[in-house]
Amino acid sequence: MNFSITKKFRDKQKNQRGVVLWFTGLSGAGKTTIANELDQLLIANKNHSYILDGDIVRAGLSSDLFFNKKDREENLRRIKYVAQMFCDAGIISIVTFISPFTADRKKARDLLGEYYIEVFIKTSLEIAEKRDPKGLYKRARNGEIKNFTGIDSPYEEPENPELIVDTEKQSSAECALAIFKYLKIKKFVN
Ligand SMILES: Nc1ncnc2c1ncn2[C@@H]1O[C@H](COP(=O)(O)OP(=O)(O)OP(=O)(O)O)[C@@H](O)[C@H]1O
Ligand SMILES: [Mg+2]
Repeated sequence: MNFSITKKFRDKQKNQRGVVLWFTGLSGAGKTTIANELDQLLIANKNHSYILDGDIVRAGLSSDLFFNKKDREENLRRIKYVAQMFCDAGIISIVTFISPFTADRKKARDLLGEYYIEVFIKTSLEIAEKRDPKGLYKRARNGEIKNFTGIDSPYEEPENPELIVDTEKQSSAECALAIFKYLKIKKFVN
């Protein structure tokens, strides 16, 4: 079935272009914090945005999954299709998962094409572990959590992200603003 209402129509109706901001970075890097700030900037600019947050998806849609490589892949397989639907609906979605594996991110990029914007939320493991906002690093070091990214599971840094924000050098507000400006330059928002 070819539906009558197209992405182009929905984009026009919302006065923006639906797109997927695919954040990647260590736990504690600042993905959720920056997404929250960016979401507010977008709403203030009269845009239509939504955060697809790792913790919320893990608690619901992916509550049957663990953190081994296969389940991480399955988790991102699901979310890339959810993001595709949001994009088709003309929404600017902000996807905040660790997304540690290059191959899984590539699958999202391949699916979403020009609507995939990879944003590397950069922080050293040392600083992320110092922040430890959820106490997860401590638990991973104690052996209470297995397959924790940066501890006993790898993080593969993005090779060619569209954007890098360094949360050791820029505040969360500055990071959010840099991403917002990128969306303006690329004419996803006015
Ligand atoms: N420049 C910055 N940008 C973002 N967060 C920062 C910055 N400086 C300090 N922080 C702090 O770092 C922490 C980042 O936690 P946050 O939950 O956003 O990380 P996350 O990447 O979403 O992690 P997780 O993958 O576990 O969900 C927060 O406590 C935040 O206040
Ligand atoms: Mg988070």
